[in-house]
Amino acid sequence: MEKTILVTGGAGFIGSHVVRRFARNYPGYMIVNLDKLTYAGNLDNLRDVENLPNYRFEKGDITNAAFMEDLFDRHRFDAVIHLAAESHVDRSITGPMEFISTNIIGTVNLLNAAKSRWTAGSPDSLFFHISTDEVYGSLGSGGLFTEKTAYDPRSPYSASKASSDHMVRAWHHTYKLPVVISNCSNNYGPNQFPEKLIPLAIHNIQTNKEIPVYGKGENIRDWLYVEDHAAAIDLIFHKGKTGETYNIGGNNEWKNIDLIRLLCGIMDKKLGRPEGASEKLITFVRDRAGHDLRYAIDNSKVSSELGWKPSVSFREGLEKTADWYLENEKWVSAVICGNYLEYYNEQYNNR
Ligand code: NAD
Ligand code: TYD
Repeated sequence: MEKTILVTGGAGFIGSHVVRRFARNYPGYMIVNLDKLTYAGNLDNLRDVENLPNYRFEKGDITNAAFMEDLFDRHRFDAVIHLAAESHVDRSITGPMEFISTNIIGTVNLLNAAKSRWTAGSPDSLFFHISTDEVYGSLGSGGLFTEKTAYDPRSPYSASKASSDHMVRAWHHTYKLPVVISNCSNNYGPNQFPEKLIPLAIHNIQTNKEIPVYGKGENIRDWLYVEDHAAAIDLIFHKGKTGETYNIGGNNEWKNIDLIRLLCGIMDKKLGRPEGASEKLITFVRDRAGHDLRYAIDNSKVSSELGWKPSVSFREGLEKTADWYLENEKWVSAVICGNYLEYYNEQYNNR
């Protein structure tokens, strides 16, 4: 094998697309997927690659330092692509400690394991930390996040990710660990856990349930199709400069309410409903505490230096996403089970 890569969180939404892309496109790489399989981790996301000879799965928890040290000894990783995290803002509001533990302590455990094994001269070693644009805080109606925007996280989720980014940079500057960081905007696409806006809305439309829109639906997000994010990760992994940060975004800003209306129209057609039928399900509910108004990414660095740009238009991406959820009812019904229903009722009943 040319190199052995640890992908953490590879059974999750973005991680599974990264594992698939790397395992299929680079048969010379051994891809080791380390995942705790929390509520968000799902090995069904990887059925089509699990038998490839260059793929291995390891169940484990990044907050367990001894386990991580042992894993590094057993596999002698050349590189890490670190995606494992608690990732949902609403859950971070009701239960922040899990976010502190996984996103901060877990990241530091990985940094320590890599640091003690990679000497300064290892030419191929790289710790690639996958982060979010939410570390930059909230924009007003103008402006974009660049790599130089000061950090201003405002939710327990974004504060824990910002903290992990700081740790990664500290290990680079202090211990010369070879690192790279990317900060991406909101992803959507197949395999996303239906707690996030787009898959939650698709499921509720399909099952004729209310679509909960927080506040007045005026918050703005910059949406990127998940395979475009995986392509950017591939490019940065191979061509990015050590010590650098790259912002990744779709140049695709949508007010939540406009996005939901567009999705309703797409779903009406797919479900054979009269035009406007699904929009009747839109229900404005109590706003999220501390709800960031707007995120938007300036992706000129990754596009000018590395030649990346999004390839999937929003309409095309939403169509593909809706088709995937409609064609994968088994996947959906397996995750919409006891724990999910409990979570859903706590979040949305009497909201
Ligand atoms: P996800 O919640 O779908 O998946 C997270 C994965 O991490 C799951 O498979 C889970 O089992 C695993 N995990 C959680 N805690 C763990 C632990 N202690 N030890 C080992 N594994 C653990 O998340 P996602 O949406 O795929 O996000 C992946 C990464 O990308 C995260 O770091 C997130 O911050 C970042 N990110 C996400 C988005 C987005 O829009 N979803 C945007 C930018 C950046
Ligand atoms: P989400 O998918 O949770 O991503 P993030 O909070 O990381 O941006 O939410 C996207 C937007 O949709 C955000 O402004 C919150 C809003 N939202 C709703 O209006 N209703 C919902 O049920 C959810 C989950 C989110």
